[in-house]
Amino acid sequence: MQQTLSIIKPDAVKKNVVGKIIDRFESNGLRIVACKRLWLSKADAKAFYAVHSQRPFFNDLVDFMVSGPVVVMVLEGENAVLKNRELMGATNPKEAEKGTIRADFADSIDANAVHGSDSIENAKIEIDFFFAKREIC
Ligand code: CMP
Repeated sequence: MQQTLSIIKPDAVKKNVVGKIIDRFESNGLRIVACKRLWLSKADAKAFYAVHSQRPFFNDLVDFMVSGPVVVMVLEGENAVLKNRELMGATNPKEAEKGTIRADFADSIDANAVHGSDSIENAKIEIDFFFAKREIC
């Protein structure tokens, strides 16, 4: 069993497709073992995406992530990290395979509907960023 962090980003929350996205996870063997809706502060978004702080898209990414509420979840299942990334599709929705979350719900590389941890190691760090141990069950 593996755990991974998923964020439903402000664009998808605004479109009211949270349930449809969660259904993709549950229908594909992933379990929601923690979940909350919150509006990130700039400090939160900068800290969460610190690994991208030197990239040219960093400021736009941070501004976008604080533009509305997000839904943050821990997904659990076999190969959860990889499975979540397959379900999400490519970062740029124009390159995402048909039937993936980003192909179906995302508009652009910034407004790309979901974030998912890219490795088991980063999943642990990202889960710890948002959730206390007692919130995961
Ligand atoms: P996410 O998986 O949340 O991780 C970092 C985010 O930066 C990514 O999704 C995109 O929404 C955003 N981003 C914007 N431009 C780029 C880019 N050129 N390469 C990667 N990510 C980008």
